[in-house]
Amino acid sequence: MQIIISLLHFFHLIHSSFILSFTPLSQRGPAALSAGLREQHSAAARPAEHDRPWTGQDSLAQDDPEMWDLLQKEKDRQCRGLELIASENFCSRAALEAQGSCLNNKYSEGYPGKRYYGGAEVVDQIELLCQKRALEAFDLDPDRWGVNVQPYSGSPANFAAYTAVLSPHDRLMVDLEVSTHSYLLISCFLTHGYMSDVKRISATSIYFESMPYKLNAQTGLIDYDQMEKTAKLFRPKLIIAGTSAYARLIDYARIKKLCTELNAYMLADMAHISGLVAAKAIPSPFEHADLVTTTTHKSLRGARAGLIYYRKGVRSVDKKGAEVKYDLEDKVNFSVFPSLQGGPHNHAIAGVAVALRQANTPMFKEYIAQVMKNAKAMANALLKKGYTLVSGGTDNHLVLVDLRPQGMDGARAERVLELASITANKNTCPGDKSALTPGGLRLGAPALTSRQFKEADFEQVVEFLDEGFKIALEVKKKTKKLAEFKSFLLEDTETVACIADLRYRVEAFARPFPMPGFLDH
Ligand SMILES: *Cc1c(COP(=O)(O)O)cnc(C)c1O
Ligand SMILES: *[C@@H]1O[C@H](CO)[C@@H](O)[C@H](O)[C@H]1NC(C)=O
Repeated sequence: MQIIISLLHFFHLIHSSFILSFTPLSQRGPAALSAGLREQHSAAARPAEHDRPWTGQDSLAQDDPEMWDLLQKEKDRQCRGLELIASENFCSRAALEAQGSCLNNKYSEGYPGKRYYGGAEVVDQIELLCQKRALEAFDLDPDRWGVNVQPYSGSPANFAAYTAVLSPHDRLMVDLEVSTHSYLLISCFLTHGYMSDVKRISATSIYFESMPYKLNAQTGLIDYDQMEKTAKLFRPKLIIAGTSAYARLIDYARIKKLCTELNAYMLADMAHISGLVAAKAIPSPFEHADLVTTTTHKSLRGARAGLIYYRKGVRSVDKKGAEVKYDLEDKVNFSVFPSLQGGPHNHAIAGVAVALRQANTPMFKEYIAQVMKNAKAMANALLKKGYTLVSGGTDNHLVLVDLRPQGMDGARAERVLELASITANKNTCPGDKSALTPGGLRLGAPALTSRQFKEADFEQVVEFLDEGFKIALEVKKKTKKLAEFKSFLLEDTETVACIADLRYRVEAFARPFPMPGFLDH
């Protein structure tokens, strides 16, 4: 090959970038490499597009400067801001490389060894490796647990798990916060009529009937007594133990006991906390659940996708002493493909596998330990400044601040912080009347901990938050409706200057911290 290319080059038959693309990286000199990189990133000095044959080898910068510019803007936004959205994280370059690879091209409907297309021998190995790592990351025995790694994301994973064990219009119970995220799929029976926004959107739901459970307004903890009472009347076939804004640990044993009484399946949706579970920093839902779903891009810090774990082996022993076996494997497989999805995203599966290997290292355990220390430091700093936390603190990666005692709400606080390059999201607190201007703000530690933030850095973050909340309060006093509040933030000169000053200091603080992923995109 080398000889042929040299000969062709001698006769000036091919362009030098073609040679570069056929020369192994290890054999390229630094000059050739940097020339190659320069070429990849500059759009100038190239023949017009219609003069050249399509090679598909141009970089994004060359091929689509408009999109490249947007990507760089987003990278810059991530580097200069303080990312406190509890569901977000910064994925590693290694996992992103797998996700942005030739695996995107391969169709492989079916499962390893049973595909509808040829040429699947490599993606078969990738999917099996991902399954193996998905079990190892949570210390699972392959005789007792299986895993489907094909779901495109968390919501499709949940819907596939529901479809595996429920028929249309069967009943399920789910955390109120989680139910509002999937309002198109499940209808909420809101017998108490305490949240009209949810009631309205639930009219559009089609597939399953669901009863939400919620937090006790006094304690901020899951109201298990109420859950048990309601479940005994509602008689769901499935209870979902999973939350997206809960700062405490879930009592899986208690929910499992309820499921056993009702002969219902228990699904643990550990989307937010799967990184903490992998690091064994919090109790594992695998001890109790029949099914476990998760996203892979939150605290687990992988490429964006979903996983479904299902039990294998003996489910129960009947009155005559005969063993009843689980039949979830076939049901989950069939539900994911062909019922709900087509070809698996092999690039995502590879990116997840890379992250799952990382999640099984001592380094990841340290990362999660730091996430939890940072969340506690953030909680304590907020308490010290007189803020109220739902449930009074945190046992995991997030805190939920209740801003109502300050006369503030999550929507207004979220907008002021956003203008100051701090991203967090509004969230309902127990007892909230409106889902559009809820009283809470959810703050998570996973993303900034991936940028090497430590406890003292989170104390500084709380200083910035406090400044933002105070600006929001001042403006709230001078305005009425949320829309007026928002335009005042952009129009009142004094407020604009105040936010600009905060933003300047936030960005100067955030930018120097390291950032995982690619350097420039
Ligand atoms: C994030 C989340 C989901 C949805 O995941 P997507 O990947 O966004 O579809 C489902 N359940 C819980 C508990 C979540 O936190
Ligand atoms: C179910 O799917 C998994 C891949 O997710 C595969 O390994 C397994 O063989 C499948 N089981 C059946 C019974 O088809």
